[in-house]
Amino acid sequence: MLNPYVKAGMKVLDIGCAMGFFSLPLAEIVGAKGKVICVDVQEKMIHSLEKRAKKAGLSNIIETRVCTHNSLGLEDVIGEIDFALAAAVVHEVPDASTFFSEVYKTMRKHGRLLVVEPGGHVTETDFEETVSIARKNGFRVINKPEVKRSRAVLLEKYLVHS
Ligand SMILES: C[S@@+](CC[C@H](N)C(=O)[O-])C[C@H]1O[C@@H](n2cnc3c(N)ncnc32)[C@H](O)[C@@H]1O
Repeated sequence: MLNPYVKAGMKVLDIGCAMGFFSLPLAEIVGAKGKVICVDVQEKMIHSLEKRAKKAGLSNIIETRVCTHNSLGLEDVIGEIDFALAAAVVHEVPDASTFFSEVYKTMRKHGRLLVVEPGGHVTETDFEETVSIARKNGFRVINKPEVKRSRAVLLEKYLVHS
């Protein structure tokens, strides 16, 4: 799911990372010259991820952050992110528009964001609404990859607003 988009040396975001189901594989792909910034509202999850990263020898690549429900707290990485993953998290955020606007700002021009939502929880209509909100916040749709039991969209930072 990640290999087509993530390369060695990239700076990557894992939003709503939980215990790091995707964070560890992301860290393996970006390698020692890359960085995976992992954010989640649950401090407990972040602590579990830190332990798992240490055990896997990936602590130097994985940076963890506890965020709030309303802000990802990524003001220090504006324009730096090559690829962001939002897996099973957008349906949990209180305001999708604020979410996409924040992620947009962190990304390099043409940086890519993969949004994956659980097919069981999120209807096709709700997913299309999410995609529409992402587009209003400056992303364009590259494609809709097949992800088992999920709805997914690959987005690209497109317009540069002031
Ligand atoms: C269903 S889990 C998905 C975990 C992981 N991305 C995966 O796919 O295995 C959703 C995660 O999003 C986090 N979350 C919920 N609201 C959030 C928010 N506003 N900002 C960041 N993370 C959030 C939750 O704490 C939870 O760990």
